[in-house]
Amino acid sequence: MIESAKAFAPASVANVAVGFDILGHAVQSLGDCVTARRSPQPGVRIQSIAGVTTDLPLDAANNTAGRAVLALWELNRAEGGVELHIEKGIPMSSGLGGSAASAVAAVVAANELLACPADKLTLLRCAMLGEQAASGSMHLDNIAPSLFGGLVLTVGIDNPRIKQIPVPRSIRCVFVHPHLRVATSDARALLRKTVSLSDFVWQSANLAGFICGCYTNDLEMIRDSLFDVVIEPQRQQLIPGFTVARASALANGALGCSISGAGPTVFAWCDARHAQQVRSAMVEAFGQHGLPCDDWVTSIEAKGARLSVQAASKVRARE
Ligand code: HSE
Repeated sequence: MIESAKAFAPASVANVAVGFDILGHAVQSLGDCVTARRSPQPGVRIQSIAGVTTDLPLDAANNTAGRAVLALWELNRAEGGVELHIEKGIPMSSGLGGSAASAVAAVVAANELLACPADKLTLLRCAMLGEQAASGSMHLDNIAPSLFGGLVLTVGIDNPRIKQIPVPRSIRCVFVHPHLRVATSDARALLRKTVSLSDFVWQSANLAGFICGCYTNDLEMIRDSLFDVVIEPQRQQLIPGFTVARASALANGALGCSISGAGPTVFAWCDARHAQQVRSAMVEAFGQHGLPCDDWVTSIEAKGARLSVQAASKVRARE
């Protein structure tokens, strides 16, 4: 019997400009870790929260990681309980899928304590219930890439279909987090509930063109389709400096630039040779608005959630 397991789940860029609520990609080197430890006391308890964010609910039912593991435990009618130790690497309300990453890392770690571990689709569903505790809505565009890795399309919610989309190898994502907080629930509340017919046609063409460009290694097709005519125009008011940062990224070679998830992080896709100049241009644009930033460059082929080496070697020994 494994007594404890630790998992890492990466941050993610949701929507990717053209796939609101259905498209997202994982990023490298930024994410959350959760350790799950078996406990004789039934139920799920959040034992500690450490890292860049600590002001999160300790009540398991209201905590994304806790809620996700409760769902997994109930589904498996597992005996005993679990203690969770959460280490946040992803800043709160940054638009980088922090609540999804905690939920994913928690179910991946807790799954190791089960006599019959669940499959990945079950983990996806449990993590989605966890994220719902934080955002109030059900969407998989952070959960799916954080669990599976890479660029992921999800179709459906009750019985989601997951498709990892190949991306041209030279593409990098620059993502810049200006030091602001945007609550996902607020950024969703401001969206109009209807879309005009012409915007629907335009956005559909962009989504189709973007996915086609990814499959066919066609950077110019990606450039011509990687822009959001529906959501970004409504949300950009939440991010001072956004329009300047976007224009600077495009002027420095970016293929496209938009809001990561609900923001305020802004991302740009570009060819690897332009990544550093796009990064500097975006950081400078936010600097002009008095906003300090954290900034990163990632490949889109980033891996999904994984057990820490120690936990993984125990799994191999068990097999
Ligand atoms: N697709 C969601 C949104 C992601 O943009 O509201 C937020 O995490």
